Amino acid sequence: MKRIITGIQPSGNITLGNYLGAIKNLLALQNEEDVELLVFIADLHAITVPQEKLKLKQNIKNLAALYLACGLNPDKAHLFIQSEVPCHNQLGWVLECNSYIGELERMTQFKDKKAKQTKGVSAGLLTYPPLMAADILLYDVDYVPVGEDQKQHLELTRNLAERFNNHYGDTFKIPEPYITKVGAKIMSLTEPEKKMSKSDPNPKAYIALLDDLNIARKKIMSAVTDSDGKVKYDLENKPGISNLLSIYSALTEKPIVEIEKQYENSNYATFKSDLANLVCDLLAKIQERYKYYISSNDLDLVLNSGRDLAYHLASRKLQKVYRKVGLGRN
Ligand code: TYM
Repeated sequence: MKRIITGIQPSGNITLGNYLGAIKNLLALQNEEDVELLVFIADLHAITVPQEKLKLKQNIKNLAALYLACGLNPDKAHLFIQSEVPCHNQLGWVLECNSYIGELERMTQFKDKKAKQTKGVSAGLLTYPPLMAADILLYDVDYVPVGEDQKQHLELTRNLAERFNNHYGDTFKIPEPYITKVGAKIMSLTEPEKKMSKSDPNPKAYIALLDDLNIARKKIMSAVTDSDGKVKYDLENKPGISNLLSIYSALTEKPIVEIEKQYENSNYATFKSDLANLVCDLLAKIQERYKYYISSNDLDLVLNSGRDLAYHLASRKLQKVYRKVGLGRN
C-alpha cells in the first residue's frame, strides 16, 4: 500500500495552476490500486500572512467543496482540515527545534513572501517549512504530489526527516516528491515569467476555478503573448505562448509537439479560442458539482471522517516522536 498526502492553502481563489500542478495528479492517483490518499486544507499555513476571519472560514469551506467538485472521491481519499488535527502543530514544533534559522531563511518562498509584506513579517512565515514537514512526516507517506514551487520545501522535509532519524533513531519514512513534467509550473497570464498565484492582486493573471466562464474566456483571449504569431514552445523567447501550450497539454494530455503541429497554420486567436473552450468545459463541470457540495451536508460528513482517520494515524506517530525526544512522562 502506497500512502500519499498533499495540501492546499485556503488563501484565495483556487486556480488552474493549483488544479494542474496538484489536484489533477491526485485524481489520477486515486484510481490506482493499493493507494491511500490523504488530502488536507492547510489553514494553519494560510495565517502566516494576514487573513480576514470570515473570509478565511469561507475559503476553508470553499476549498473542501472544490476538492470534491474537482473529482476527489471521498471513498478513496481522506479529506481533512489541518487545524482540526493538532498533531500537526505539535510535531511542527519539534521539527522547528531541529531546524536551523539559516536553512529556513534560504527558502525561496520565504524570501518572496517576506518581500511582499508591508506590515511586518510574521515568525510563522519563517517557520512554515517545518510545519509543512510535520504535515507530511506524521503519516509515513511515500509520495507528495505538488507543483514545482514546493520542491524546495520537500527537500527540506527530507533533510529534516533524515536529521531526526540520525539523531533519535529510525522514526520517519523519507517521502518522495511527485511532480509531473507538464503542469507543474503554470505561469501568470499577464506576466508569464511569474508563476500563476491565487494571491496575485491582478485577477487577470490567473484563472480561478470558480471564475465566471465569460471572464475566464476573456482572460485566456487577452493573455500576454508576443508578436511572432507562431504557436511554438520556446520558454525563453515566447514565455506567454509556451505557458498556454503547457496548459493545453496538461488539460488534454497531448504532447506539446503534437499541439504545435495541430496549430502550425493557425493564428494565436484560433489557438486561444480553442484553449478557452477547453478551460471553460473543465470549469463548467467543476462549478456544477461545486454548487452541490457547497450546500450539502456531505461536506461535513466527509471532513469529520477525514479528521478522525488523520488524528488516529497522526497521534500514534506523535507519541513515538515524543518518546524518542524524551518529552512528558511516558
Ligand atoms: P499552495 O496552496 O500555494 O498551492 C497548492 C498546490 O498547488 C501547486 N501550485 C501550482 N502548480 C502549478 N502551477 C502553479 N502556478 C501553481 N501554484 C501552486 C503547489 O505547488 C501546491 O502543490 N505549502 C503548500 C501547502 C502545503 C502542503 C503541505 C503541500 C502545506 N503542507 C504538505 C503538500 C504537503 C502551499 O502553500 O501550496
